[in-house]
Amino acid sequence: MKRIIIASQNKHKIEEIEAITKKFGMSVVSRNDAGLPNTDIEEDGKTFEENSYKKAYEIMRLAGEMTIADDSGLMVDALGGAPGVYSARFSGDGATDRSNNEKLLFMLKDVPAEKRTAKFVSVITMIYPDGDKIVARGECPGSIIFEERGQGGFGYDPLFVPDGYDKTFGELGAEEKNKISHRARALVILEKELKCREKDL
Ligand code: IMP
Repeated sequence: MKRIIIASQNKHKIEEIEAITKKFGMSVVSRNDAGLPNTDIEEDGKTFEENSYKKAYEIMRLAGEMTIADDSGLMVDALGGAPGVYSARFSGDGATDRSNNEKLLFMLKDVPAEKRTAKFVSVITMIYPDGDKIVARGECPGSIIFEERGQGGFGYDPLFVPDGYDKTFGELGAEEKNKISHRARALVILEKELKCREKDL
C-alpha cells in the first residue's frame, strides 16, 4: 500500500480521510509519524483553498511524497462570512472553543433567528510529487442558535444546527455528523476525483 502524508495531527480527521484513500490503495501517515520536522506552517491565506494548498505543499516539499491537507471553518452570513479562515483563532491569542463560541454569540446577540444562517466549509488538497493536485471543497449549510447545546464534537458544533435537522452538531453524535458534514462532503468529491483519474498510485 502506498502512503500519503497528512499535515494534520487530528486523529479523527486522519481516520475520516483514510477511509477514502484506502479504497485507492493509500494509507495515511501523519507528518510526525513520517519523521518530518515539526515546523510551523503559517495559515496566512485569505481563503480555505490557499491555506489548504499551503499546508499540503509545504509538507510535499519536506517529504517529496504525496501529501494531503485540509482547512476548514465556519462562515456566518450576518458577519459577512466571518470567522472564516480565522475560525480557530476568532477570539484572539489563546482562543479556545469556549471563547470562540462566546464571541460568536455576542456578535450575533441582536440578530434574529431567520438571519443567523451559516455554513461550515472544508477544503481538502491532495498534491502528487509531480505537482499535480486535487482540490475538493465541501460545504454544510445551517444556522447558529442562541445558546450552546450538546457535548459532542468540537469547535462551533454546539451552536450549529445543520439544515433539515433540529439538533446541533454537538447533539447529533459523530456518526450522524460524519454523514453530512462539510468534511464528509469534501471527501465525497475527493473520492470522485480519484476515481476519475485512476492514477497508478
Ligand atoms: P482546522 O481546519 O482544523 O484548522 O479548523 C479550523 C477551525 O474551524 C476549528 O478550530 C474550529 O473552530 C472550526 N471547525 C472546523 N471544522 C469544524 C467542525 O466540524 N465543527 C466545529 N468547528 C469546526
